[in-house]
Amino acid sequence: MDSNLLVRIHSISVMLFLLTYVIKTILLFTSKPMLEKYSRITKVPEMIISTLFLVTGIWLFVMLGGIKTLHIIKLVLVVVSIPLAVIGFKKMRYGLALVSLLLIIGAYGLAEASRNKPFIKAKVELNNEGADPKFAQGALVYHQNCGFCHGADGKKLYRNAKDLSISVFGYDDIQQMVRDGSKGKMPGYSAVLTEEEISSVAQFVQSLKVAPADTTAH
Ligand code: HEC
Repeated sequence: MDSNLLVRIHSISVMLFLLTYVIKTILLFTSKPMLEKYSRITKVPEMIISTLFLVTGIWLFVMLGGIKTLHIIKLVLVVVSIPLAVIGFKKMRYGLALVSLLLIIGAYGLAEASRNKPFIKAKVELNNEGADPKFAQGALVYHQNCGFCHGADGKKLYRNAKDLSISVFGYDDIQQMVRDGSKGKMPGYSAVLTEEEISSVAQFVQSLKVAPADTTAH
């Protein structure tokens, strides 16, 4: 499935899930009969939404091949909060319901906070015997950090990434992009890569470019 569609379904189902959590918590504290009625009516939709968000979430984890530390904490929070919520709302236990709501909101906050953070480096080993050391370093940095969005050949478009093989970015633009990232779309790497690594990965990215057809030859 298209990863962007998956991300969209995931975000929408998370929002709906969060919304229903908040509504249920408010009802729990204000009107228990209303909560019972609400829970009855939304039982099936809620099951569909939570399945959807768990399945798409896990699918994204698997597809990413790269995950962030905050993602792991987030997953733990979600996994802990769901049984707490089920018991909390069913048995009308205020404390449990509140704790689970806080956990879910915390998980959501973490997801937002991790948006511009780099992924945990992928484990890759390259066979570069005889290769130019700088090129080898650039290739390693690239495959560890950039490959799951941009692909080994630069053409993968995960999360609306740009096709690097046809990018018009020059060496300096690439370095700038790697340092700063692009808000909400691509993480910035100034805190995780050294200037030397940024320079070598920029060189490597340039090597991914497909040379434009030579139109000047006669
Ligand atoms: C989370 C996915 C992701 C990762 C990881 C990632 N990128 Fe990107 N990259 C993107 C997205 C999305 C864009 C488009 C940003 C925009 O449109 O503002 C982009 C754009 C770029 C561009 C600009 C291309 C152009 O023509 O506009 C370069 C260069 C680039 N990335 C290089 C890298 C390098 C090098 C790494 C690793 C150090 C990397 N990216 C890691 C998602 C990613």
